Amino acid sequence: MKVGLIGGTGGMGEGFALRWSPKHDILVGSRDVQKAKDAANNYFRTARNYYGDKMSGNIIGDENLSIARKSDVLLLSIHYEHIKDTCEQISKHLRDDCIVISPIVPMKKTESGFVYTPMEDSKRSAAEAVAAHLGDKFKIVASFHTISEARLKSIHEGLDSDTFVCGNDKDALATVNNLISEISGLRYIYLGPLSIAYQAEILTPMLLNSAHRNKIKNPGIRIV
Ligand SMILES: NC(=O)c1ccc[n+]([C@@H]2O[C@H](COP(=O)([O-])OP(=O)(O)OC[C@H]3O[C@@H](n4cnc5c(N)ncnc54)[C@H](OP(=O)(O)O)[C@@H]3O)[C@@H](O)[C@H]2O)c1
Repeated sequence: MKVGLIGGTGGMGEGFALRWSPKHDILVGSRDVQKAKDAANNYFRTARNYYGDKMSGNIIGDENLSIARKSDVLLLSIHYEHIKDTCEQISKHLRDDCIVISPIVPMKKTESGFVYTPMEDSKRSAAEAVAAHLGDKFKIVASFHTISEARLKSIHEGLDSDTFVCGNDKDALATVNNLISEISGLRYIYLGPLSIAYQAEILTPMLLNSAHRNKIKNPGIRIV
C-alpha cells in the first residue's frame, strides 16, 4: 500500500514513516520538495539500519500535491490552523477511494494549562474540519491523537498503549485498524462516528496537563 504523509517532515511524520516502512511504501510530503527528499532519505537510513532485509517498503519524498495524487492512505500530519488551506489544495488531487487519517489535535497552552481550542472558540473538531474542507466523498478516519511523537519514533520499543478510532466507513476503519496493529504494542479502540472524534482529540491536552504536573514522560492511554 502507498501511505502518504502530508507534513511528513514533522515529528509525527517521522514516527509513522519508521513504523510503517517495513510493509508499505511511504511517501513523505512537504510544501518544499527538497525538504521532503532530505527527510525521506534520513528516515530510510534509520529504518534500513533497524529492519535490514525485513523492510519491504521504500521511503521517498515529494511535494504535498504529488503525494496526495499517489496515496492509497493519506495521513494529515499538520496542525489545525493549516487544515483549511491544505485540504482545499489537495482535495481535487486525491483519488476517490483514498482514505484520509486525521491525528490532528486543536489545542493551545494557557495559564491554566493546555486546553482544547474548539471548545473555547466554538469551532469544529479537527476531524470535522477535515471532512468539511475535503468534501463528502472521501473516507475520513480520526486516530493517533494520544500517541507521543517520541515513543512513535523509538522503533526499538513497543508503544504498550491504545488509540481511539473514529470514522463512518467500515472498510476505511478496517484498513486503518490494520495499520494501527502493525505498530508494535498499539491497539485500536473503536470510539464511534466521526462526529464524536472530539472525544478522542480532547484527551491530548488532558494527557499533557497530567504528564506535566505529575512528571510523567511521554504519556499514553490504555483502557483496562
Ligand atoms: N507531536 C505529538 O506528540 C502529537 C501527538 C498526537 C497528535 N499530534 C498531532 O499531529 C499533527 C502533527 O504534529 P507534529 O508534532 O508532527 O507537528 P510538526 O512537527 O510541527 O510538523 C507539522 C508539519 O506541518 C507542515 N506545515 C507547517 N506549516 C504549514 C502550513 N502553513 N501549511 C501546511 N503544512 C504546514 C510542516 O511540513 P513542511 O514545512 O515540510 O511542509 C511540518 O513538518 C498535529 O496536528 C498534532 O496535533 C501530535
